[in-house]
Amino acid sequence: MCRGRAVMGVGAVATEDVHQRTPMTQPGSHDHVPRIPQEVTMTAPSITTSPTGDRRSVDHSTTPTPDLRAIKARQQATWASGDYGHIGVRLQLVGELLCEAVDLDAGERVLDVAAGNGNASLAAARRDASVTSTDYVSALLEQGRWRADADRLPITFQVADAEALPFDDGSFDVALSVFGSMFAPDQDRTAAELLRVVRPGGRIGLASWTPEGFLGDLFRVIARFAPPPAGLRSPMLWGSEARIDELFAGHATDIRTSRRHFTFRFVSAEAFIELFRRWYGPIHRAFAAQDEAGAQAFHDAMASLLRSADRGTRGALAVPAEYLEVVVTRA
Ligand SMILES: C[S@@+](CC[C@H](N)C(=O)[O-])C[C@H]1O[C@@H](n2cnc3c(N)ncnc32)[C@H](O)[C@@H]1O
Repeated sequence: MCRGRAVMGVGAVATEDVHQRTPMTQPGSHDHVPRIPQEVTMTAPSITTSPTGDRRSVDHSTTPTPDLRAIKARQQATWASGDYGHIGVRLQLVGELLCEAVDLDAGERVLDVAAGNGNASLAAARRDASVTSTDYVSALLEQGRWRADADRLPITFQVADAEALPFDDGSFDVALSVFGSMFAPDQDRTAAELLRVVRPGGRIGLASWTPEGFLGDLFRVIARFAPPPAGLRSPMLWGSEARIDELFAGHATDIRTSRRHFTFRFVSAEAFIELFRRWYGPIHRAFAAQDEAGAQAFHDAMASLLRSADRGTRGALAVPAEYLEVVVTRA
């Protein structure tokens, strides 16, 4: 219980307990065909809404009520399309910085949620943490295993849905998610699961793209060509301090947030588009849904965005992409 304790960094006050519940069943081993692990019925903890004064407001656009389960099944197929590993390896730095942000100690039990091919998992294992790397796309976990083997790092890999983590309450000292938990469609439930599996006093470290940053702009371009399901909350809300308050402040003794930038570096805008078109599920799928004219228009819209965001000074593309780094200390 953390009633009345100030939450630092976001100016909110915690007022509620986390509701504990029984452990989930194991969803299966890492090497089965990708599928959403069996879900169990649960009631997510009620999350306190925290008025945040000068914070940016949260756009909830939640009507009509979307079928989150069907949406998640489609999203899982999208992330399994292309080969996200080609993108993931470029983002390694964010996992390293997040491990420092949570001040990770050697020996701590770390869960990486929606780990993809393992950036935060590898970073934590390099700091001698005891790491469990999870995602609902088993092929990506397999790539994480290759990377861990190459670096001689011990990591446990397990297929898991971020909305139904197959772990007991309080099993981890630290939960991490780099551009991962933000994509689960039921945001309250995902936050509740992160809070549930971390012990009291443990930390949750998140890196999420911001709505105002380059990825926010890129997803708005994608949405013009492949509109998201009606009523679905934007994943980029995890990159807003106000939404982080809503999701976590009622269950935290401390929340620290920092806006950071990851810079995408490519030889050209064309090289960026080519890589993302081929390998990045959401863009790969959106291109596949276009006819020839639509694909050209989508390409041109991406190229225009990239050129306007380019801060390169020597001919190569350098696009700074803002993200919100968050460290929640669980009550
Ligand atoms: C942008 S990638 C980030 C991957 C990785 N964390 C990184 O740093 O590169 C998003 C990842 O979230 C995973 N994901 C999305 N929704 C998920 C869910 N509900 N449960 C588990 N994984 C999920 C996808 O499979 C994908 O690997």
